[in-house]
Amino acid sequence: MPNSEIESRPDEYKVARILLSEKELGDRVNQLGAELAERYRGKQPILVTLLKGGFIFLADLSRAMKIPHEIEFMIVRSYEKDSSSGTVQIIQDLKQNIEGRHVVLVEDIVDTGLTLSYIREHLSIRNPASLTVCSLLDKTEARKIQVPIEMVGFSIPNEFVVGYGLDYDQLYRNLPYLAIIDPEQA
Ligand code: IMP
Repeated sequence: MPNSEIESRPDEYKVARILLSEKELGDRVNQLGAELAERYRGKQPILVTLLKGGFIFLADLSRAMKIPHEIEFMIVRSYEKDSSSGTVQIIQDLKQNIEGRHVVLVEDIVDTGLTLSYIREHLSIRNPASLTVCSLLDKTEARKIQVPIEMVGFSIPNEFVVGYGLDYDQLYRNLPYLAIIDPEQA
């Protein structure tokens, strides 16, 4: 990338509104971690996260879940073709066998539900002992396909959000809070 291009990049983010503060996120993530610890004590679950969006939630949830557990990552790309269908491409699959294991799928956000529906099926057919979805955010109004989500951090309105791992054009992931983007920046 030429220097002139790097130099023309904005050196700060502008957000329109903070939807969930760092404290609100932290408190809820700690609760979810405690609930998971309670549920999976003595079972050594595997937390599976979809990159990149889930990386910050996973890091905090994992530390809040004070029982032994493993973590695994998948890389997926979602393409939405029209209002009723979408395809999900698995760029990197799980590296380990989950048959007979307790799996917690840690999601950043469920929007249309297409990604979760696909990945739920992809994991279920490998016969885990149990499969629980824990999504930090749920945009219920945006749903195009009904899919079970056992644990939800927050239900949020149908608006595009960034921060706490979620991006717009690969930026904003490092914001410690969840925000609605300034439309002039989008
Ligand atoms: P789906 O529409 O439920 O399949 O969600 C697909 C993916 O789109 C999510 O896992 C997120 O990575 C991304 N996504 C959906 N809504 C938002 C948003 O408001 N901000 C940032 N990413 C989003």
